[in-house]
Amino acid sequence: MTEYILELKNMTKRFSGVEVLHEVCFSLRPGEVHALLGENGAGKSTLVKVMTGVHQPDKGEIYLDGKFVSFADTRESRQMGIAAIYQELSLFPDLDVAENIFVGRQPLAAGGRIDWRKLYADAGNLLESLGVRLDLKQKARSLSIAQQQMVEIARAFSINARILIMDEPTSSLTLNEVADLFRLVRRLREEGTAIVFISHRLEELFELADRVTIMRDGSYVDTRLLKDVTRDDLIRLMVGRTITDLFPKQDVKSGEVVLKVENLARAGSFRDVSFELRQGEILGMAGLVGAGRTNVARAIFGVEPATAGKIQIAGREVAITSPQQAIKLGLAYVPEDRQLHGLIPAMPITSNISLPTLFKYAQRGWLQDKVERKATYDAALQMEVRANNIWQMARELSGGNQQKIVLAKWLSTKPRILILDEPTRGIDVGTKAAVHALMSKLASEGMAILMISSELPEILGMSDRVLVMREGHITAHFSRAEATQEKIISAATQAVTSGSV
Ligand SMILES: Nc1ncnc2c1ncn2[C@@H]1O[C@H](COP(=O)(O)OP(=O)(O)OP(=O)(O)O)[C@@H](O)[C@H]1O
Ligand SMILES: [Mg+2]
Repeated sequence: MTEYILELKNMTKRFSGVEVLHEVCFSLRPGEVHALLGENGAGKSTLVKVMTGVHQPDKGEIYLDGKFVSFADTRESRQMGIAAIYQELSLFPDLDVAENIFVGRQPLAAGGRIDWRKLYADAGNLLESLGVRLDLKQKARSLSIAQQQMVEIARAFSINARILIMDEPTSSLTLNEVADLFRLVRRLREEGTAIVFISHRLEELFELADRVTIMRDGSYVDTRLLKDVTRDDLIRLMVGRTITDLFPKQDVKSGEVVLKVENLARAGSFRDVSFELRQGEILGMAGLVGAGRTNVARAIFGVEPATAGKIQIAGREVAITSPQQAIKLGLAYVPEDRQLHGLIPAMPITSNISLPTLFKYAQRGWLQDKVERKATYDAALQMEVRANNIWQMARELSGGNQQKIVLAKWLSTKPRILILDEPTRGIDVGTKAAVHALMSKLASEGMAILMISSELPEILGMSDRVLVMREGHITAHFSRAEATQEKIISAATQAVTSGSV
């Protein structure tokens, strides 16, 4: 007998001849949370996909309960009790929440028809046991990313997995939701489920994981007990060097007000939002998912225009009713959902960088400009985008590297006002510092940046001022000096005292 429920030995995986996993070993005990850690492109997702039969290894063995196994596809691994939530969300947009949970495994009634009543009842029970509140009949396309992730999790739990793999499950969740998820994971661990957990947020590993396996450049580095390592140890093991300056925010004397928002509102979404943003300033927007931050950004950018209130740009009142118009006014918006909005997966990196894909509605010649292209390319380099070569298809890049390309492109379009929604989600610790350095540099050159972030260290480290939103309105406003983690959390989570939006 073995103490391991799952063991991978000498896993090697090549894509078109390029080795992305090199003799990686990994062992999982029942009832443990085992984290996988490594930089963007280190091979974490690929390793996970080998465990679930998405990819076939070129070399190496998988043992389940000490027995040699191989998985031709994910159906086979699922039958053996392995469930996974991948980095790329994969719901069917036109199916509702309950249908998505049981897709392909709908309960059948006599006569072979789908037993809809059972399907909704089962889905309801499942969500309740997970402590998740969702409308079972809501179509997936209208769910927020956090909600979509919850459905994915419910789907994974619905097969009674003995092994649950979560590839960056928390990257789009915040405070409350992460806490809920962790409660759930701990409960499963107590019941003996083995959990593989990937996250770039080191503090989460310390909070949740028992052991961590570190990978670098497709190779196994080490496996440690979390209680025996420090944050610096982990960074050193994964990056191979120490990183000291995690938030290299330069002090910039802010200039003219370039964006002024007064009593902005959109029915059912947010209300009474007022703030100013100055040249050279980074204004942080904190809050829980669903607090309305993204909706405010979308309204300012004209995606879903506000229904009341005023927007002034450089002192002039404007009515922004479309993204084209926002772009003409010097605004840019990097949405949180970059995989959907930012990248053409079937195009090579070069085209993704040089074509105005993000601005497909913009039709502006300047993006084709060689100078512009070079700037983007340099930004991508600065962020250490990891790929075989620049002709590689975007969809073949690791999640974090896809993010970097989209981000690089936006950062280098040099807008007057840049709205960043979760700029470093999914980006590894090493590169994060590079992204932050770039933001800081752009601000020092006069760009005004509105940064929505759910990561408090990022908010505290990067913002000149901090706004906190809760339930569709602004609940607090702090200077850099005043802002603390406790104050922000309290402003983001206090019980509601006012009426609804
Ligand atoms: N289908 C594919 N074809 C070619 N190369 C691939 C494919 N999938 C992944 N790769 C390459 O394998 C390497 C490892 O990618 P992987 O997605 O496993 O990284 P990761 O550790 O999960 O990174 P991240 O933190 O960014 O998610 C990357 O260099 C990536 O470009
Ligand atoms: Mg990955």
